[in-house]
Amino acid sequence: MIPALLDVSDVPALLELAVVIPTFNEKANVPTLIAKLDQALAGRRWEAIFVDDDSPDGTADAARELGRIDTRVRVIQRIGRRGLSSACIEGMCATAAPVVAVIDGDLQHDETLLPAMLDLLQAGDHDVVIGSRFVSGGGTGDWDRDRVAKSALATRLSRRVLKADLSDPMSGFFAIRTEVVRSLAPSLSAIGFKILLDLLTASPHPLRFAELPYTFRVRTEGESKLDHVVAMEYLIALYDRMFGRFVPVRFAMFSAIGVFGVGIHMAVLTAVFIGLGTSFLVGQIIATLAALTMNFFLNNALTYRDRRLKGWRQLADGWVSFAVICSVGAVANVGIAAFLHDMRNDAWAASALVGVLVGAVWNYALSSKFTWGRY
Ligand code: GDD
Ligand code: MN
Repeated sequence: MIPALLDVSDVPALLELAVVIPTFNEKANVPTLIAKLDQALAGRRWEAIFVDDDSPDGTADAARELGRIDTRVRVIQRIGRRGLSSACIEGMCATAAPVVAVIDGDLQHDETLLPAMLDLLQAGDHDVVIGSRFVSGGGTGDWDRDRVAKSALATRLSRRVLKADLSDPMSGFFAIRTEVVRSLAPSLSAIGFKILLDLLTASPHPLRFAELPYTFRVRTEGESKLDHVVAMEYLIALYDRMFGRFVPVRFAMFSAIGVFGVGIHMAVLTAVFIGLGTSFLVGQIIATLAALTMNFFLNNALTYRDRRLKGWRQLADGWVSFAVICSVGAVANVGIAAFLHDMRNDAWAASALVGVLVGAVWNYALSSKFTWGRY
């Protein structure tokens, strides 16, 4: 006989909340954070999920050590990947809890807000509850003026993609109905730090939100990972939300770098041909190689940052394939422009532009597959 399956409909839920904690080099903060969650969430049924990007300091080990004596502590260790937003998304999709909260692993967020967040979501009138530094009662702690100004600028920019009137869309501290995250996950850009903004802007209908004030604490252990690259990723994410449907981010970056390459070409040509007095042909060859190499490294560092080629071998292989692809692209560019010009003699500028566009698309499509798609 087949045993009766467990009927779960009237079993009281044993899990109310998952606290997702993205970490990179936060080893020293792990035990303190769990102790603080244990206090703040006393009487609630919760689990903590560390999503660690293989931190060299052994954060994941520290979390697993706790997990062996406290089954509420879980760990996802991601290998070969980085990114705060994508870590949060993975953590949020790895729980059965109906509500998830995201909190930094460095103790800068105020975990005592969690029960109130949970209560609000359980009452059913909200989709997301956000810890805000900018509603009355909240604050940025002892941030320097520079960071306050940058954060204010980022918040202002976000208004362009965000319809909701939120005081702190940059917040990395919030709780949300897990179901909402799962339904939005496929349309998230997952770039950079701004997971909340990503969720709010991905939703086809406005999410019902509440904001609770808190004061951003000072970091005492470890260091911040917010740097220029993160700032750039933020701009990329905004671009993606505004124009990504029309021109993909990567293609836009690839093209911008291409335009920059033309500048490099002209500068090197001037220096070599005029400055050093070489023949025009030699000048052109040197300028072309310089522009090509510059474009290769810039695309490697920026456009394909997530699949960056590293080490001599990969870089040499990549450079060669990039050079071959771009040479074919240049031939296609000239050929198509000449063909169009033959048909319509008066439209020389348009012919040239179409040639450039076809060359750019060719270079982009092939290099993304063969130069940066192999490892
Ligand atoms: N898994 C993973 N991968 N975690 C990361 C990564 C990453 O690439 N980068 C950072 N983290 C973790 C950190 O270890 C920390 O627990 C948390 O994400 C926040 O990173 P910080 O480097 O401390 O960021 P912050 O304090 O400058 O920025 C915070 O405040 C901003 C508000 O201005 C974050 O909460 C931001 O999300 C928030 O927007
Ligand atoms: Mn921090």
